[in-house]
Parts: sequence; C-alpha cells; structure tokens
Amino acid sequence: MKMSRRPINLSRRMSESGLSAPFSSTFHPRSRSPPYLFVGVIILGAFLLIGYLYRGRGTLENRIALGRVEGDFSCNREVQRAIPILKQAYGDSMHRVLHVGPDTCSVISSLLKEKETEAWGLEPYDIEDVDHTCKRLVHRGIVRVADIKFPLPYRAKSFPLVIVSDALDYLSPKYLNRTVPELARISSDGLVIFTGYPHHQKPKAVDRAKYGSSVKLRNSTWWTQYLVHLSLEENEVAGKKFEQAAEKVSYSPHCQIFHLQPYH
Ligand SMILES: *[C@@H]1O[C@H](CO)[C@@H](O)[C@H](O)[C@H]1NC(C)=O
Ligand SMILES: *[C@@H]1O[C@H](CO)[C@@H](O)[C@H](O)[C@H]1NC(C)=O
Repeated sequence: MKMSRRPINLSRRMSESGLSAPFSSTFHPRSRSPPYLFVGVIILGAFLLIGYLYRGRGTLENRIALGRVEGDFSCNREVQRAIPILKQAYGDSMHRVLHVGPDTCSVISSLLKEKETEAWGLEPYDIEDVDHTCKRLVHRGIVRVADIKFPLPYRAKSFPLVIVSDALDYLSPKYLNRTVPELARISSDGLVIFTGYPHHQKPKAVDRAKYGSSVKLRNSTWWTQYLVHLSLEENEVAGKKFEQAAEKVSYSPHCQIFHLQPYH
C-alpha cells in the first residue's frame, strides 16, 4: 500500500530544490554571450517565475483544502489539545506514551515538548512526503511506519499508555477485531481511543484517496457494545479524572474519547 498521502509536500519540495537549479546554472554567462542568448535566458526566467508563482498558489490552495478536510476529521489535533487533561488523568503513565494514528509526527512533536515525557509514534500510512522534523523522528526510530492491520511490532505491555486517534475509523470490523486487542496488548496501564463523532464528521471522497478506504465513524452506543464484546473494560478511574480535569478548564472534546484498561 504505497500511497502518497500528501502531494502538496512533493510540489513544495520541487519548488524548493528543483526550480532553483536552472536559475543558478543560467546565471553564469560567459563574458561575451550573444544578446539573443541573454533574451532567451530572460524569457526562460520569466516562464520559470510564472510557473513557480502558479505552483505556489496551487500549493497554498491545496493546503487550505487539506486543512479543512483534516479539520473535519482530525482527532489527532484533539489529542494535542487534550495533552494537559490527559496528564492530569494519567499522571506518571503519561511519561511514556505510544501514539498510533495518521500524522503521528505532529502528535509526537507536541508530546515531546512536555517535561519528562518520552513518546513514540506508530504511523499506519506511508510517509514519503513529510517534513524534516518527521523524517528525523523516523530516522531516530521514534516514529515507525507499520500497517496496523497486522500484529503490532511491540512486545506485550511495552508502553504504560497507548493513545490511538483516527486510525481505527478507517478499519473494517474484520481488521478492527485484530487491531484493538493488539493495542490493548501492548499497553500496561491504559488505552485511550479518540474517534470521530458520526454526525459531526461527514465522510468525503478525498478520504479514499488519502487512506485507501473511507472513514467509518461509529457512535458511542456502537463503540461501547463493541468494546464489551472484546472484553475490554472501561478505565473508570482515569475516565473520571479526565472528566473532572476537563470540566475545570471548560474543555469539551470534538471527538469521542474512550478510556480503557489493558488486558490483564
Ligand atoms: C468482530 O468481533 C465482534 C465482537 O467479538 C463479532 O461480533 C464480529 O462478528 C467480528 N467481526 C468480524 C468481521 O470478524
Ligand atoms: C448508533 O449506530 C447504530 C448503527 O451502528 C444505530 O443502529 C443506532 O441507532 C445509533 N444510535 C444512536 C443513539 O444514534
């Protein structure tokens, strides 16, 4: 499943590196180059400049469109908003966290800014076209890319806390049945699931291109029943602490959040 999820970054990269090359090579004229060559260079330069400007505009438009789409769905951003609340609910467990979900680099970057926090990311989708920070996280082994439809590449109870956002919304029940128990297996203190509200977030065609399947947002009745079927128990203590901390700062999440105990 090699899909480029972010064509915009590719075009940005091209405009950064690819386009600067012709400019630098054309501006080394020999001392007595004929005038038509000079005019040719000017015209070529103008074309490149126009091309660059158009490309730049396209990139910006793409970025706005993508931002809007991500805004519709993204529980990743919700995880980042919820970090202070999660810290109060989970205390020490928040010092070693695994985040699972698309664009995990952004979540990991936020988590790593917290004091005494180690964080790792599992990215379910191809990340060819990502920024420098993300590449470094991958290079350092902090972020790994793995298809979460298969057994996760970690030993049991590897992380006190496992937080998953968005990723499960793209799995059919067949794969969900394999992946959710896996997430519970690799956590030792808790599993937190961030998932979209079905009525808030409407599926869009762009999703299929981005993630290889469309989003399937389920309501809380569905999730609750489903998690009971999997013999996963609610983490009542953490859930209550989370609610209290959220109330104090009038935080109301845009996503459904489930606090679960790991398998014992
Ligand atoms: C997934 O698991 C649920 C609950 O255990 C079960 O009812 C359902 O039939 C399973 N679905 C698939 C496709 O395996
Ligand atoms: C939740 O979703 C299920 C289908 O998955 C549906 O049958 C049920 O009516 C929904 N419940 C609410 C409260 O929306």
